[in-house]
Amino acid sequence: MAEIRFNKVYKAYGNNEVIHGVDWHIRDGEFVVIVGPSGCGKSTLLRMVAGLEVITSGEIFIGDRLVNDLEPAERDIAMVFQNYALYPHMSVFKNMAYGLKIRGLPKQEIEQRVQKAADILEIGDYLKRSPRQLSGGQRQRVAMGRAIVRQPSVFLFDEPLSNLDAKLRVQMRLEIKKLQEELGITSVYVTHDQIEAMTLGHRLMVLKDGYVEQLGTPIELYERPATSFVAGFIGSPAMSFLDAEIGEDGRQVVFEGGDRLAIAGRLSLDAGSRVTVGLRPEHLVRTEEEADSLHIKVRVVEHLGADTLIHGDFGPGKADLTIRMDGIEQIRTGETLRIKAAPEHIHIFDPETGGRID
Ligand SMILES: Nc1ncnc2c1ncn2[C@@H]1O[C@H](COP(=O)(O)OP(=O)(O)OP(=O)(O)O)[C@@H](O)[C@H]1O
Ligand SMILES: [Mg+2]
Repeated sequence: MAEIRFNKVYKAYGNNEVIHGVDWHIRDGEFVVIVGPSGCGKSTLLRMVAGLEVITSGEIFIGDRLVNDLEPAERDIAMVFQNYALYPHMSVFKNMAYGLKIRGLPKQEIEQRVQKAADILEIGDYLKRSPRQLSGGQRQRVAMGRAIVRQPSVFLFDEPLSNLDAKLRVQMRLEIKKLQEELGITSVYVTHDQIEAMTLGHRLMVLKDGYVEQLGTPIELYERPATSFVAGFIGSPAMSFLDAEIGEDGRQVVFEGGDRLAIAGRLSLDAGSRVTVGLRPEHLVRTEEEADSLHIKVRVVEHLGADTLIHGDFGPGKADLTIRMDGIEQIRTGETLRIKAAPEHIHIFDPETGGRID
């Protein structure tokens, strides 16, 4: 087991800098997730920890060892990739045992470790089969088993579930979480799926274009997103964003067309300042009152069973706004709804920088 520390870590491919200075302390036993859109640098960051990419500048420590110049094999890590190629001609047992055999562990020790990992992963019945006789989920478990038997001080996962179908992904997600809790091994998990990130991570790093947008627990990111990017990325269905300006007394936001919403506290912005207002679909509710409400024209209604999603047009500019209601709501396209949001659920961002304003 080990902590991991990033100290001003930069990465450039030629003249193209793709990671622009990451500082991060991952605690011993912690499960952290790096999340962000395609191309933001998630795999690059992970591969620098693994030793598969050179660190252009800065330092990475695993435990108290500076690993910058250590070979991958010397770093005491195990990695599970999206394409976890198993050896097709070897049995499940041999696939799991191979790395240990290479390292020259005694036969009995190897058998014990494989058996134990197989028990944890519930693949004990398949040890004699070859990989092609397994389902996708079972193969994924063998790939995990191969990492577990190494008893590393750090697990690195790079989108390990993205090859699986939706149902299996949910199941394996739960298994990975349980496994990490049982083993307590420091783990870094990369994904572009915000639900995976929210459900797995003790803490998340949201990465955008090689910059850290925010670090925090899933709840912190959800409740107090530091930027409009994080706000739009975390949470499903996604937050809606509307242009507005600060009202005369600083305690209201005023939208084009005249609708207003009261906000929590008082902002130190001048009346008339332009802001971006973020509203989560689950925080919008219907209201009968005219004051403090938004008028929405319903464009599309989606019945999901447990809830109903309403996509509407707001204001003269027909801005997109999504509303989530519990259960089955009979609402027709073209109808006008009046909705409100509690002041503590209204997020305000700087339209230029995207930064949160409190
Ligand atoms: N070997 C390489 N040479 C040059 N540029 C690279 C190389 N590997 C990655 N990049 C660039 O670095 C950036 C980050 O890539 P990276 O693979 O880390 O993204 P990612 O966040 O893992 O994306 P994805 O979700 O698609 O896997 C991208 O712009 C990519 O084009
Ligand atoms: Mg990647």
